[in-house]
Amino acid sequence: MERAYDLVLFGATGFTGGLTAEYLIANAPADARIALAGRNLDKLRALGHDVALIKADASDPDSLRQLAESTRVLVTTVGPYLQYGEPLVAACAAAGTGYLDLTGEPEFVDRMYLRYHAQATETGARLIHACGFDSVPHDLGAFYTVQQLPEGVPLSVNGYVRVGATFSGGTYHSAVTAMSRLRQMAGTARQRNKLEQGRWNANGRRVHGSVKPPHKVPEAGGWVLSAPLIDPQIVLRSARALERYGPDFSYGHYIVPGTALTTAQIIGAATALVLAAQTPPTRKLALGLRDPGDGPSEETRAKSWFRVRFSGEGGGKRVLTQVSGGDPGYGETAKMLAEAALCLAFDDVPDVAGQVTTAQALGQPLLERLTRAGISFETLRT
Ligand SMILES: NC(=O)c1ccc[n+]([C@@H]2O[C@H](COP(=O)([O-])OP(=O)(O)OC[C@H]3O[C@@H](n4cnc5c(N)ncnc54)[C@H](OP(=O)(O)O)[C@@H]3O)[C@@H](O)[C@H]2O)c1
Repeated sequence: MERAYDLVLFGATGFTGGLTAEYLIANAPADARIALAGRNLDKLRALGHDVALIKADASDPDSLRQLAESTRVLVTTVGPYLQYGEPLVAACAAAGTGYLDLTGEPEFVDRMYLRYHAQATETGARLIHACGFDSVPHDLGAFYTVQQLPEGVPLSVNGYVRVGATFSGGTYHSAVTAMSRLRQMAGTARQRNKLEQGRWNANGRRVHGSVKPPHKVPEAGGWVLSAPLIDPQIVLRSARALERYGPDFSYGHYIVPGTALTTAQIIGAATALVLAAQTPPTRKLALGLRDPGDGPSEETRAKSWFRVRFSGEGGGKRVLTQVSGGDPGYGETAKMLAEAALCLAFDDVPDVAGQVTTAQALGQPLLERLTRAGISFETLRT
């Protein structure tokens, strides 16, 4: 592909976009052709980076078509993706351009699968969603755990997520928007499942989720709670795509509140937010609690951390592994997104197309990049 750029970042003026731009520019090969895009050129100039700047607006499909045709890889931090994301996915699927985003919105990912997976498979575009804390540590952590277990046997893996961090206004707005659309989310997921069913059964392998009520897991750090996040969906998609996950793979995904009291508090707060998101006046009130563009201070981010433990078993072997790092929401998310984009643009990665996961499209090369960048993948016990 003859393209003006190797990599373009759309949304560099936002909170996470700004961090991603810094990381990309500091870590790209010296001869990489990088550009930053956004709807406001003055705001882009004020970032002070010495790279090409491009004006493009999520509400102007022509500007997105030109953007997608100008680069080999396009990274976007313009969210909520349900609100702004689709035209760029459409442009990348049509132009055969590699696409990466930070969405954690299952409805968006399923809708993009239904509308653009087939076209992207034909044009060769890799459409890779959820390249931040949602869902890289979980997807690559399960990928890493599977590699510590025997081949060709049924495998069962559980992931336990613990974080010490706060979230930005952009993430909060995306989450409340997603909560206001639970019915639409379930409907889109059903359509996708129906379409994919034939493909999953085709190779005779079984891949399934496992959900248990709150319970205690000492090796995870106490009480754990199953959460309807996008992460287990992504892990299960990787398992369906990759033979290495074995003939029968199950995955359970839990957050770790630690104590019974915190578990109850989290259930209460999440229920209140879901209820508030259901009607326009209460949703407006809930959204008013945080402004988009706000984010935790540098000092808060420096103290933030995440740790995901995976217990895996199969073929008579048990392992406990861990993926860990710093500020999950922003510093590490920007690092994961930027490394995924650099990996897609410059590394020798699997030859796949369509909507694909990070493990499927970037797998081992991304795991090695993240390890070099300070995100730890380790086996605690075999
Ligand atoms: N999954 C994860 O782990 C994770 C972590 C962090 C963030 N995120 C997601 O990433 C997204 C961004 O988060 P954030 O905190 O960085 O949000 P933010 O600070 O509000 O940034 C949003 C960006 O979108 C741009 N934008 C808005 N409307 C646009 C339009 N019509 N055309 C072009 N650009 C437009 C904004 O440009 P202006 O500056 O011109 O307003 C800004 O650059 C959210 O969806 C969030 O949920 C996910």
